[in-house]
Amino acid sequence: MAGRLEGKVAFITGAASGIGAASALRFAEEGAIVAGFDLNDKFEPDWEEATRVASRSSFATGDVRDEARIREVVGEAKQAFGRIDVVLNSAGVAGGGMVHMLEEDAWDHVMDINMKGTFLVNKHVVPVMMEGGGGSVINVASVEGIEGFMGGSVYNASKGAVILLTKNMSIDYASAGIRVNAICPGFVDTPLLRATFRIEGAKALEDQIRAAHQLGRFGKPVELANAALFLASDESSFVTGVALPVDGGYLAGHRFTG
Ligand SMILES: NC(=O)c1ccc[n+]([C@@H]2O[C@H](COP(=O)([O-])OP(=O)(O)OC[C@H]3O[C@@H](n4cnc5c(N)ncnc54)[C@H](O)[C@@H]3O)[C@@H](O)[C@H]2O)c1
Repeated sequence: MAGRLEGKVAFITGAASGIGAASALRFAEEGAIVAGFDLNDKFEPDWEEATRVASRSSFATGDVRDEARIREVVGEAKQAFGRIDVVLNSAGVAGGGMVHMLEEDAWDHVMDINMKGTFLVNKHVVPVMMEGGGGSVINVASVEGIEGFMGGSVYNASKGAVILLTKNMSIDYASAGIRVNAICPGFVDTPLLRATFRIEGAKALEDQIRAAHQLGRFGKPVELANAALFLASDESSFVTGVALPVDGGYLAGHRFTG
């Protein structure tokens, strides 16, 4: 049986780790050619497995804030594989702090990677999709782009912006056959999350956040990858402009005991 992404070319940022790497693997398992892009080439096992499973793959280092590098790498992927059908914007960083204590360069760092980086990658991939007659753009936002989180400030602002960018792009590119959606992960067990809890150094906070998911646990990267796979595939042919929570019930509401 043909895979759900048979013959499609997927360009994935943040491909070396976490949700990006898990998605690369699921996409490859379903027949996609995967072109990975990341700031570093310290790979999580999922990316290495993706390159083994995929019929063809490529990897390039670079920064989503660097437009010249993105133009170059997107051009190379088009040259190598002929087209780009799917882009998954998973490169991202955590960050935050109460506004009155947040340094301007800390604000710029998170905004430039999470928000501007998503814009820049889409800016260069979308024309390739248009030439190919359509495609699927998937931006990784967050539950924190939908509601607030104490101290979240710039991170929440960046992810809220990604959601509205997604909705706008879905309007602007529908006629070109390009669907544009966001996934909004709850808290997912990746290096990014583990680093966050290391900084906070707060076991009690970690436990409270885990419990705020109705399913009582953090997500696994593959659970986000499966949602990205749905949005990447033709199974979601009538889905565009959506910010899809994949969050174990985190946004469902509050649960009190006693
Ligand atoms: N893990 C979570 O709980 C969670 C929750 C909600 C949203 N998200 C979002 O999911 C996405 C993936 O996060 P993850 O948890 O897989 O994190 P991760 O740290 O495991 O992976 C992120 C990847 O992005 C890369 N990256 C960072 N800055 C970059 C840059 N400037 N240019 C290119 N690559 C860069 C990193 O090198 C890393 O490989 C992020 O956008 C994150 O904000 C994560």
